[in-house]
Amino acid sequence: MDGNGRWARQRGLPRSAGHQAGVKATRKTVEHCARLHTEALTIYAFSSENWRRPETEVNFLMELFVKAISSELNKLHESNIRVRFIGELSRFPSALLREITLATEKTADNTGMRLNIAVNYGGRNELTNAVVSIARKIESGELDSKSITEELILQHTWLPDCPEPDLFVRTGGEQRLSNYLLWHIAYTELAFTDTLWPDFDGDELDRIIEDYSNRQRRFGQTGDQVQKTK
Ligand code: FPP
Repeated sequence: MDGNGRWARQRGLPRSAGHQAGVKATRKTVEHCARLHTEALTIYAFSSENWRRPETEVNFLMELFVKAISSELNKLHESNIRVRFIGELSRFPSALLREITLATEKTADNTGMRLNIAVNYGGRNELTNAVVSIARKIESGELDSKSITEELILQHTWLPDCPEPDLFVRTGGEQRLSNYLLWHIAYTELAFTDTLWPDFDGDELDRIIEDYSNRQRRFGQTGDQVQKTK
């Protein structure tokens, strides 16, 4: 969800106004994905590197997250959406941690779209945590090193039970992954758009999905093999 700051600057507004507009775009996108019966949507709200921003911006974002989660929670719940947060949550202020716990617990039994919100998230951090927890289990005798498989590593990530993402979308014109979901997107199709996040909407997502549906996903096979198994 990149481009909030530039969207605000283009309008002579403070960056905070861009983040507020970003929340609206997030709400519309979540609603659109739920209408499309998306199984899981994972959004990158705050990276582990975003702490390096000016303190005023970080504080503003923390308050914005608290307000956005508390004002959206009932609607998310009524829409049968299951909310989960991934990342190193312990560093967040207690007001935000309370909202995170409330949203997670309230929606835990919902069976519709899974909405994963990545906060203080870093893909390398996720993998480091997985390695540490596997190593501890080996040390304690709970696991044998021979049992390390890709599936076991997945089970120790923060998204052990979600389908692999089919599509990655980054707004704001940069063409990089920025440490996002590194384990999970090995075979994900990538889409980049110059649209700044506050201007992103369902119509643009539909166009990206249309383009995605015309791609051939080969997963290492040849094009001919994929055609035959269709
Ligand atoms: C990137 O724009 C956006 C962020 C760092 C986070 C803000 C995300 C939201 C406001 C979405 C709301 C999310 C939830 C969970 C309610 P940028 O500041 O990097 O923009 P720039 O690259 O133009 O400066």
